[in-house]
Amino acid sequence: PNPSEVSWLGTPINELKRMPECGKPLPPLKNVPGHHTVMIRTDLLQKDKVPVPYPTRFQDAWDDVHVKMPCSSRNLFPIEDEVKAQVFKTYFRCELRNAHEVTATNINRSLVLSKVLEPDAAEHLFESLLPDMVQLALRASELCTKPIPLLKAGMNHSITMSQEQVACLLANAFFCTFPRRNSRKTEYSNYPDINFFRLFEGSSAKKTEKLKTLMCYFNSVTEKMPTGLVTFTRKSLNKPPNWKSSQTPLTKLHITCEGTIEDDGYGMLQVDFANQFVGGGVTGSGLVQEEIRFLINPELIVSRLFTEALDHNECLIITGTQQYSKYTGYAQTYQWGGSRLDTTPSDGWQRRCTTIVAIDALQFRNFLEQFQPDRLNRELNKAYCGFACPEEKSQNLSAVATGNWGCGVFGGDTRLKALLQMLAAAEAGRDVAYFTFGDSQLMTDVHNMHSFLIQKNISVGKGNSPDVHKLYVTMRSDTEMVLNT
Ligand code: AR6
Repeated sequence: PNPSEVSWLGTPINELKRMPECGKPLPPLKNVPGHHTVMIRTDLLQKDKVPVPYPTRFQDAWDDVHVKMPCSSRNLFPIEDEVKAQVFKTYFRCELRNAHEVTATNINRSLVLSKVLEPDAAEHLFESLLPDMVQLALRASELCTKPIPLLKAGMNHSITMSQEQVACLLANAFFCTFPRRNSRKTEYSNYPDINFFRLFEGSSAKKTEKLKTLMCYFNSVTEKMPTGLVTFTRKSLNKPPNWKSSQTPLTKLHITCEGTIEDDGYGMLQVDFANQFVGGGVTGSGLVQEEIRFLINPELIVSRLFTEALDHNECLIITGTQQYSKYTGYAQTYQWGGSRLDTTPSDGWQRRCTTIVAIDALQFRNFLEQFQPDRLNRELNKAYCGFACPEEKSQNLSAVATGNWGCGVFGGDTRLKALLQMLAAAEAGRDVAYFTFGDSQLMTDVHNMHSFLIQKNISVGKGNSPDVHKLYVTMRSDTEMVLNT
């Protein structure tokens, strides 16, 4: 075939494992103090029913190990339900009639929001959607009754909550009601921003498209509340593999220059090219892979409420989020592409079988820096932390769906990063589906590299020697492959 018509190489994608088919049945969902915080009544969990919060009444925690809630009696800006709702209602009407600054709250969302929609849609926004969002936000003390633990550095801990609880928290984030989270120099300086105030600043086309995407989510959940659960797991790698001596053979590779991680990697472990502050610039001006994923699956954004900056040996895994929007373009050309019906099946815990792993690559300003052994090790360990699941057998692990991790904004070399991710995935016992995002040369090169390693029976330990890295980086299809390993 004509080389320009080749859109994929390696193992056919249908031969790679996906959830739910490859997984084992889950043990019963239960709250385990110190390990897993479950915010709903597991005994009442029922398919297609909105889960019941646990406990029944709001437990107020105002300390340094839990999220400080807007509805806490200790909040200096208490939300008197009726009053606040009234203020919001008046505020939105005001905005509708004049776009001047209104200081009823600490944000001025008039400029951006009024641009988001056509006139009749604006009426829906101000008369129906925003008031519904206010009502949802005000239900925090009824819905999020259990104190939410902060997932601090070094912790291995999961939080499972309902999509309704997530929606309530995100409505609060939208209205910027989380206390102590509006200025940088606070106790939360090592946490991502959660309140959305930066999204309402300025009036760039990018922010308008971001807001359209988020309003699509709020529109969907206020019209029909989804009934699933979402789990957020912070994980650290305590015993890194010995990369130099590993005898582990490489696993399978499917590589394609078409498609995306989110569309074609369904059911696989999907990599989020993350920032150490998960979600990166999603509530500000960022709009690349991570931010786009957080916008089309907005339930991911709630991780910013409780996830402290990731350390070198840590990752965050999120299972169960739903995709509410489509999009076109990328970065400057990003556009909201309308709503999307997510038909992903659910697992035994009523979670969508969508698992996303946030791993933050190192940012390189100097090309050669990434070949330093400590940097190579750091990236291998970071990827391995995200991919490894030592308690599962390889046959039950879905493939990793990834691509140019760390090679856009963060400036890494695609060929080196592809190799490092293949080694980490092999060590974790998972196959790889690699999306080159349109780069067919990269597809050919990485495929050749992988075939060569397989042919020569090169194990993870050998593939990781620094000399080999350098050879692979200089390897292009237009270069003679001279490899003496
Ligand atoms: N599927 C597959 N590949 C993609 C997709 C997709 N949906 N989107 C982009 N790519 P980048 P980084 C490819 O720059 O370098 C954020 O602000 C595309 O080739 O997002 O790790 C984070 O919060 C793109 O150039 O990742 C961090 O702060 C490449 O992936 C920072 O960016 C890298 O995407 C991380 O930067």
